[in-house]
Amino acid sequence: MKIRTAIIPAAGMGTRFLPATKVVPKELIPIIDKPGIQYAVEEIMSVGIENIIIVTASGKESILEYFEQRQPKGNSISSEGKFAQIAQLDQIAKTVRIKSVLQTEQLGLGHAIACASEEIRDEPFAVVLPDDLIFGPKPALQQLLDIFHTHESSILAVQNVGSENISKYGVIDPTQVDGNVLRVGNAIEKPAPEEAPSSYGIIGRYIFTPGILERLSEAKPGAIGEIQLTDAIADLTKYESVYALDIDGKRHDVGTPLGMLKAAIEIGISREDIGQDLSNYIKKL
Ligand code: UTP
Repeated sequence: MKIRTAIIPAAGMGTRFLPATKVVPKELIPIIDKPGIQYAVEEIMSVGIENIIIVTASGKESILEYFEQRQPKGNSISSEGKFAQIAQLDQIAKTVRIKSVLQTEQLGLGHAIACASEEIRDEPFAVVLPDDLIFGPKPALQQLLDIFHTHESSILAVQNVGSENISKYGVIDPTQVDGNVLRVGNAIEKPAPEEAPSSYGIIGRYIFTPGILERLSEAKPGAIGEIQLTDAIADLTKYESVYALDIDGKRHDVGTPLGMLKAAIEIGISREDIGQDLSNYIKKL
């Protein structure tokens, strides 16, 4: 079964980046010079998924403007071939179809995904959170797709997040299937460390069967009054097999200022144009 559509939930309020997010969507805040959401779109494009649904909120229209293909206009920065970085954006506009759906009330990640259900209908689909940048030997989404092709079931990206961080995550109750593949028996949102069923936190990449949309349609607000995706996943395990994959890669949570700063430093150090100067500067600090 081919995955043709990916959802990027981008309607959150981004309160951790206030005051910037008063007018700038969190997803457009650059990590050096590239907005977090562009990494997500590029990852989706790299695995051959052609339809992207961005879930946005009122006031975040600039996210869609960012991805619109602009007509070359004389001396504008969009002029054909003028800047490689703009050419990259043009390539995105030519390769993938980006649609948006509006989440009118910020009722949580589960609710944001449910807002896109009309567009999905009855096909499996991917979800990519722009808050998580994952750099590994293979794109995290590709790692999930490789397993999906074997099991044809929902599959979640997880990593060992350590007991000190566990209460910030949705946590799975796993049994090992094969290597890094786990079977999910249950999932709990933000458990206290002593109640966590494992140290595997769910991170921002998922492949879902349409069954999750049914579970979300019946979901009631959970922790902090939001419709929690983790609760719907827990419910889904009662009806279908759900798997998780321990992702091979380094993850940066760019949804927090510290995570974004760390990602910018690591990306900066590895860049040809600024890497050397940046490491010299850090050594001198
Ligand atoms: P977060 O909870 O990390 O994002 O949601 P947030 O709510 O924007 O951040 P803070 O806590 O206020 O700083 C993870 C992802 O889910 C999306 C967010 O945009 C982010 O990409 N999201 C969250 C929605 O689309 N809708 C929601 O109601 C909540």
